[in-house]
Amino acid sequence: MKLLEKVAIITGSGRGMGKEYALAFAKEGAKIVVNDTDDISISSTIEKIKEIGGEAIGVVCDVSKSDSVKDMVSKASERFGRIDILVNNAGINPFIVPAEKINEEGWDRVMDVNLKGVFLCCKEVGKIMIKQKSGTIVNISSQVALFGEYGFLPYAVSKAGVITITRNLAYEWARYNIRVNSIAPGFIAGGMNEPILKKEKIVEGLATRVPMKRFASPKEIANVVLFLVSDDSSYINGETIVIDGGMTGFYPVSFLDLIKK
Ligand SMILES: NC(=O)c1ccc[n+]([C@@H]2O[C@H](COP(=O)([O-])OP(=O)(O)OC[C@H]3O[C@@H](n4cnc5c(N)ncnc54)[C@H](O)[C@@H]3O)[C@@H](O)[C@H]2O)c1
Repeated sequence: MKLLEKVAIITGSGRGMGKEYALAFAKEGAKIVVNDTDDISISSTIEKIKEIGGEAIGVVCDVSKSDSVKDMVSKASERFGRIDILVNNAGINPFIVPAEKINEEGWDRVMDVNLKGVFLCCKEVGKIMIKQKSGTIVNISSQVALFGEYGFLPYAVSKAGVITITRNLAYEWARYNIRVNSIAPGFIAGGMNEPILKKEKIVEGLATRVPMKRFASPKEIANVVLFLVSDDSSYINGETIVIDGGMTGFYPVSFLDLIKK
């Protein structure tokens, strides 16, 4: 068991990828703090953790609100006495629209959850990890932070900021034996993509952008996050691992294919 007796807070783990990470960590012996904005989704993750013999508590918290984050972190440390792992997974992409149609309120909400939320959780958990002189943090960015896409501006900006938070905190907190890394997934067959997964044409169209011609399974992403929070990655710090089947940085149509035409 790679995470025996470790305590992990996973934000937004009531469903989707956060739930996947929670179950993967629990199978490796971690005690989980399940967070989301509602009790119902939290309970469903806790039930699954208990089914596999794991231990978990649930804390309702909106990661964009500092008082709410402070309350979550104090409940976690009261219950378990320490926090070894933080996965900043909670994230939203509520609208996909051209830049000229984005309203100020929508922009602010995406920044509040995806960017400020990561900072607030790092800050509060970081205080405990600094005292412990140990800890590992994984922030969930996105491939879209590294590539131009149509209609994703606030989401992409927030996820680029997540990479910058990662790099800076990795530098600041290495002196306290805290590692901070992030992942930048491409298309995952789960989580916020759930609504499009049955739409074959969209899925096939998106998959043509990927050299591997398919979406990632949730497990393929969870395996990397597990690696980053475990001692298997003990010398990796400040890194962003792109998990996108090779999509970033390749031309959709190859030179050879074009000159053959
Ligand atoms: N699914 C993908 O293809 C994909 C690709 C790249 C990155 N990501 C990132 O992975 C993370 C997880 O996404 P997912 O696909 O599982 O989406 P999801 O919508 O299924 O899950 C996100 C979870 O975060 C919770 N959440 C939202 N706002 C919150 C808040 N203010 N406080 C606490 N919890 C909150 C939601 O209730 C939900 O349970 C996100 O950060 C997302 O941007 C997903």
